[in-house]
Amino acid sequence: MSRYVIEGGRALEGRVRISGAKNAILPILAATLLSREEVVIYDAPELTDVEVMLGILQELGVFIRREKGDGMTLVLRADDLETFEVREDLSREMRSSIFLMGPLLSRLGRVRTSYPGGCAIGPRPIDIHLKGLRQMGATISERFGYIDAQVDRLHGADLHLDFPSVGATENLMMAAVLAEGSTVIRNAAKEPEIVDLQNFLNRMGARVKGAGTDVIRIEGVKRLGAADHALIPDRIEAGTFLLAAAITRGDLLLENVVPEHLEAAISKLKEAGVTVEEETAGLRVRLSRRARAVDLKTLPYPGFPTDLQPQMMAFLATAEGTSVITELIFENRFKQAEELRRMGANIRTEGRTAIVKGVPALSGATVQAPALREGASLVLAGLAAEGVTIVEGLEHIDRGYHNLEKKLAAVGAKIRREL
Ligand code: EPZ
Repeated sequence: MSRYVIEGGRALEGRVRISGAKNAILPILAATLLSREEVVIYDAPELTDVEVMLGILQELGVFIRREKGDGMTLVLRADDLETFEVREDLSREMRSSIFLMGPLLSRLGRVRTSYPGGCAIGPRPIDIHLKGLRQMGATISERFGYIDAQVDRLHGADLHLDFPSVGATENLMMAAVLAEGSTVIRNAAKEPEIVDLQNFLNRMGARVKGAGTDVIRIEGVKRLGAADHALIPDRIEAGTFLLAAAITRGDLLLENVVPEHLEAAISKLKEAGVTVEEETAGLRVRLSRRARAVDLKTLPYPGFPTDLQPQMMAFLATAEGTSVITELIFENRFKQAEELRRMGANIRTEGRTAIVKGVPALSGATVQAPALREGASLVLAGLAAEGVTIVEGLEHIDRGYHNLEKKLAAVGAKIRREL
């Protein structure tokens, strides 16, 4: 079992470059299935979730070339697909494979994939995805753990999402770009990654507008062509490093960040007493004394992102006062609390609410990463704790962070990876 060994108590100082966004490249890779021409994606993050998605595309018959520069450049071409079936072991490994349904139904009129497993943070249903695809004409059966869908040609529809689901919004955008007629997606998710997907689709020749608002309008076109695209920076990796600087009372400069993508998180950090300033070279974050407790609720964008909630909990565990955290997006996203308590945190969880009573300091312990962002939360706690912290289960953390230990060590953390 791979693990981090972290010696806490060192303030992080220096510069770190944020990678391209995981939650932008995953739908964009699915969208490459919509065109027969060559697409090029710059600044692709090297993450296991990206490797899984590339593996699925390769199995479907997509040609893929990797070019290593200072970031990874991907060249893909889906000129003739070999199958409509998404390999079960791969699609179970990553729930985002569900948004291959839109592109495959558009391209082949057929798709079979396995029901995406739930994961540590909740059951992760896909009812909103399937309801929208049915409204666009797909016949979908869900049997024996498989989802089988087919359609002659998807047609446009006026869709209203019961919840602004990020994945469902992306899936339905991709289903609509080659459909007959026009589609409206109401109560759409507004995340920056959805705007990035719109920009990529329009570069291929699609006609999408409104991404970033709650109404997205798509005019179906006959074919899509070639495109090249530079990914937006990963706002969740950036938020994780903002919190790493704050929890260690350091002074970091983050390069390759879009501050407006982090408005809610930055505002909360300032409320807690952290200094966050935009400089020409990037976003600078500093804290030299104990943070103040703050309350927060996770909400769809532009609200406070659920993907930073576990990391924020670690930060508030040593703040002055009591913080109330309400997790309104996922049913079960406090798995990090139990592990933080092993490090001396005083956290009580009741359903979707966590009460975090700040303690003067955490102490190192051996802890288990239960999922991706929860694992990042434990790394942050280890950076600040007295003594040595062992974080086990790095396969979760590798899904969303590339070379996390190298980036942290380069700004002063004493962290090493074993196995
Ligand atoms: C995306 O997941 C992100 N993943 C998640 O990031 C992120 O936490 C989430 O959006 C919310 O911001 C990617 O973009 C690859 P949702 P997604 O559909 O699309 C319910 C990370 O750490 N729902 O917006 O799966 C669902 O149960 C990951 O990088 C339905 O009820 O999220 C959840 O409670 C974790 N029915 C809520 O909506 C559906 O059909 C939000 O889910 C779909 C979703």
